[in-house]
Amino acid sequence: MSRQTRRAFLKATVVGGGAAASVASGPWVLRAGAQGAPLKIGLVLPYSGVYAELGNSITQAMELVFARENWTVAGRKIEMIKEDDEMAVPTGVRKTEKLIDADKVDILTGPVHSGILMGMRDKVHSSKTILIVSNAGADAISRERCSKWIFRTSFSNWQPNQPMGGWVAKNVSKDVFITAPNYQAGKDQLEAFKETFVPAGGKLVGEDYPKLGETDYAPYLTKIRQSGAKAVYAFFSGTDAVNFVNQFDQFGLKQSVKLTGAGFLTEPDVLPAQGKAALGTITGHFYTPLLDNPTNQRFVKEFRDKFAGKMPDGFACQGYDTAEVIVRALKAVNGNTQDKDKLVDVIAKVEFDSPRGRFRFDPKTHNVIQPFIYIREVRETPLGINNVPIDKVADVRDPGTGCTLPA
Ligand code: PHB
Repeated sequence: MSRQTRRAFLKATVVGGGAAASVASGPWVLRAGAQGAPLKIGLVLPYSGVYAELGNSITQAMELVFARENWTVAGRKIEMIKEDDEMAVPTGVRKTEKLIDADKVDILTGPVHSGILMGMRDKVHSSKTILIVSNAGADAISRERCSKWIFRTSFSNWQPNQPMGGWVAKNVSKDVFITAPNYQAGKDQLEAFKETFVPAGGKLVGEDYPKLGETDYAPYLTKIRQSGAKAVYAFFSGTDAVNFVNQFDQFGLKQSVKLTGAGFLTEPDVLPAQGKAALGTITGHFYTPLLDNPTNQRFVKEFRDKFAGKMPDGFACQGYDTAEVIVRALKAVNGNTQDKDKLVDVIAKVEFDSPRGRFRFDPKTHNVIQPFIYIREVRETPLGINNVPIDKVADVRDPGTGCTLPA
């Protein structure tokens, strides 16, 4: 090849390469089994602070599912970009913007904190970014602030609590003190409890909202003692749950006042630090690692093998389901995520056996339908101290008031 022809050839190749590249980004590219661009998943989660262990559990279970797929699904390599929201709304929003605008993620997941979810919502909606919420329960996201771009694999704050109000009034006590951290999730969860507790004849003998991240519950425990409550209904999670449950016991309240609450109060992320202080606590949740379905048994074994014996909690189940939704949707579109409206339709229809039971989204809200809310009691079991189901309520869906999809 002469110098001149070689230069012309190179030029033609470059031009040709450009054309080939644009052809390669067409919707048909992956049909021939070619390797597409990596699928980028942005995680906005707390890796520090009160809910750090929740962020870890979600991430670990996602990694378990993607490792099972050898980190490649329908020709797309899976890439996780993890951002610590530090449990602060402005940080969570800033990290969300970075993941959408700079990293150009295909899918977002997280957060844990309801306030951060509310802060992220408009950016996600206006940029048409698919967000699969893997914890934060803010009810509004399944109601007046719902979005066709937002799915939730975890729960609305209403779901684990609404069935508990009537149950506690009937089976535990009608004189109850309620308490939760002073932010949106705390408010949502106790409102849902009241919704069925009061009509069932329950009397609220007191109500209090310590700050998120409180470490000294003594003033609140004093109030509980003085209120004459026969039972407490509480939502605390992460290190708040460790401190509240341990101090409730140390304060001597456990002998005279029955502790009940949202399941997060005694999940396996906190049970080892609570130990016997948690025994006898009754809570509502969609999961316990003791469920005896085959998917759960495999999940518990694989999770414990991979993560040094750690018992999966509900947060891990949420991470598992989030990753499973992504894997199944990606396979259904042959790895082609360019048509985002189509991807939303495909995600909405994903259904599979989850460790919690049959997983499906409610078409009305894009929020998960809980196959069951289990009423669980903390007991000694052959697997250590854990949540034993003692009753259950089937098919629990958020009312979705004010949500009309597509929105
Ligand atoms: C929330 O902020 O929505 C939230 C946080 C921790 C939980 C549950 C809900 O365990």
